[in-house]
Amino acid sequence: MAVTQSTTKPSYSFQETLAASQKANWRLEDIIGGDKRLSFAQPFMPESFARVEELSFLTPAEKMKLNQIRGFDYLCAFGLVEEFILPFVLDHARHQLQGDDYRVRAFLAFAAEEAKHIHLFKHFRTEFETGFGTECLFIGPPEAIAGAILAHDPLAVALVILHIEWMTQRHYLDSVKDERGLDAQFKSLLKHHWMEEAQHTKLDTLMIEALAEGRGEAELEKALGEYLEIGGFLDEGLRQQTEFNLENLQSSAGRKLSGDERAEFMTKQHQALRWTFLGSGMTHANFLATLERLSPALRKRVEQVAPVFC
Ligand SMILES: [Fe+2]
Ligand SMILES: [Fe+2]
Repeated sequence: MAVTQSTTKPSYSFQETLAASQKANWRLEDIIGGDKRLSFAQPFMPESFARVEELSFLTPAEKMKLNQIRGFDYLCAFGLVEEFILPFVLDHARHQLQGDDYRVRAFLAFAAEEAKHIHLFKHFRTEFETGFGTECLFIGPPEAIAGAILAHDPLAVALVILHIEWMTQRHYLDSVKDERGLDAQFKSLLKHHWMEEAQHTKLDTLMIEALAEGRGEAELEKALGEYLEIGGFLDEGLRQQTEFNLENLQSSAGRKLSGDERAEFMTKQHQALRWTFLGSGMTHANFLATLERLSPALRKRVEQVAPVFC
């Protein structure tokens, strides 16, 4: 899935990013609440992420349930990652309150948007829990996961954040924008998230340039090693979530799968979660281009491991 792209440095500016952020600035009420409700008669996730059709032992109704459970894990996963992005961005901005006023304002807008996204994902999660009919399990708690990630080198954490933000761009543009038949509110969630994350990808890139400044090859490779460690940690979380999704499906469908069905579910659905949250970010052309500008060896290493997550 690796894509080649020019490694010419993009000309992102704090002033332009701030202006784009002010233009996008939507309200929660524009997306969910009032008469804007989730429709449980429709799928929430595109098949490229949900991969329910591969599970031939499920009935059409069970496939729909599993698709919506994947929508639930998407809401929870983003709620979870935004929990460590927010303090990380605030800490980064805190050290740079003097100098460029546009930089200060752009980073504070970034943090405010992530706080709004946390609120948005929670709101959708409550809406899901009200309408789905059975309780669903999700990994956590978010504070413990955030703490484990934030204990790493800030450059490694910033790379994880860049991966996540480019991933949201790809999720909407490649898999959701032109997909017919998805629930309108869920589609609107991904669209509005995409609109604001577009600015975050640029600010992340600028943040990475600042954090990488003055580092030699060995230090950059060490930071990439920590990025991959965080990826491994998240992958273990995704495996656990796949087990939870199996439980979530069985309780909502009211039947137990056989041993063979459970094994097939675990293999195929773990890979579906891997592509949704890891592979689709690791292979994003702009993420790889940023790695290459730091050092071609970093890009090469990520390209070597990415197929496992696709
Ligand atoms: Fe966000
Ligand atoms: Fe973001």
